[in-house]
Amino acid sequence: MPIKDCKIIELPKISEPRGNLTFIEGNRHIPFDIRRVYYLYDVPGGAERGGHAHKALNQLIVAMSGSFDVILDEGGEKKRFHLNRSYQGLYVCPMIWRELDNFSSGSVCMVLASNIYEESDYYRDYNEYLAVIKK
Ligand code: TYD
Repeated sequence: MPIKDCKIIELPKISEPRGNLTFIEGNRHIPFDIRRVYYLYDVPGGAERGGHAHKALNQLIVAMSGSFDVILDEGGEKKRFHLNRSYQGLYVCPMIWRELDNFSSGSVCMVLASNIYEESDYYRDYNEYLAVIKK
């Protein structure tokens, strides 16, 4: 799937004087079923996460609190997304290299994923990844 399919998805937001509520239903608001949720937190200033691509995994990345950047590429130009709203998610399709940086203090990065954790789904070596996508 090409990088142009990776985009910010606006999620439903119910705003009331007593607070906001956002919800996400698999295959309705995002184009996959949710089989796993994980989150990054207590990320030290200056740290970088990611640095890999997935063979088949679909993901939605949401800044639940604070902010951070997600940098996507598929061997060409890098696209940087600044996430700082809990009612927006970045959809990342399979075979896209991603890096995350610029975490604000106290930020929480939640990831919804289409499958359980499988190390065999990862490309962790950028050159190996490039060789596969340029075939
Ligand atoms: P990794 O995917 O490299 O983290 P990030 O992309 O945020 O930098 O995962 C870090 C470690 O956590 C690695 O040893 C694999 C493990 N892990 C799991 O066991 N289950 C999971 O669902 C995830 C996402 C990671």
